[in-house]
Amino acid sequence: MYKLIDGKLISTTIKDELKQEVADKNIKATLAVIQVGNDPASSVYVGNKKKACEYIGIGSKSFELPEETTEEELLKLIDELNADDSINGILVQLPVPKHIDDEKIINRISPLKDVDGFHPESVGNLCIGQEGFVSCTPAGIIELLKRSDVSIEGKECVVIGRSNIVGKPMALLLLANNGTVTVCHSRTKDLKKVCKRADILVAAVGKPKMITAEYVKEGAVVIDVGIHRMDNGKLCGDVDFDDVAPHTSAITPVPGGVGPMTIAMLMVNCVKAAKRR
Ligand code: GUN
Repeated sequence: MYKLIDGKLISTTIKDELKQEVADKNIKATLAVIQVGNDPASSVYVGNKKKACEYIGIGSKSFELPEETTEEELLKLIDELNADDSINGILVQLPVPKHIDDEKIINRISPLKDVDGFHPESVGNLCIGQEGFVSCTPAGIIELLKRSDVSIEGKECVVIGRSNIVGKPMALLLLANNGTVTVCHSRTKDLKKVCKRADILVAAVGKPKMITAEYVKEGAVVIDVGIHRMDNGKLCGDVDFDDVAPHTSAITPVPGGVGPMTIAMLMVNCVKAAKRR
């Protein structure tokens, strides 16, 4: 029988720990949340981030900018927030409208306030094992594994996906935890065969239910980063849960697996930013 890794429960535990720490140490943290345009999915994510701040006792300052906002205007706002001592963390919800270069935006956020962990300095620190902010989704996956007593050391870890936000930092974190790491992508030959070696398989492919039992070694731990809405209105991941779960020793569900951890780790980064100041 497999173990269901309960991200909702673990994320709540983390948020409760943070709430306690913020109260005990009288930590004053404020997160600036910037959304450009009104993409409905982004609005939901931003709303959930602000709710989490409130729950923990972190201030949040919202900047809801119109779709037509220019790159210069957004960069100017970031400069102001970088210089503002009352702001500890800055988050620009992605994607930004097409006329804005997201790389320029990410690079402009002070690495001291980069609670998303997307700045090249944050990524570089992660790469060489120095202190810095780590991208929230992969950091959340490491917490899920640790808090579910899944050891990473010496394990065959296979990450499917090489995005800057998930795949690459995930691989670096698994490596930092002494896993043997393989990163797969769209050009990988014989993906099934590579995945089948994994003791820990992280799926961040972006294709609904693509990972079936054929990709999974008996007894593997499977982490599903995907989230997709099906025609029947229900959510599913990159993993075909019903097909795969019976072959695993532990697996994350969608929803209620990796998703809630992303916000919990953002809160961890906000508290860290306030303590570092
Ligand atoms: N869009 C999708 N995921 C994220 C995230 O983790 N941070 C930001 N800023 N935007 C996102």
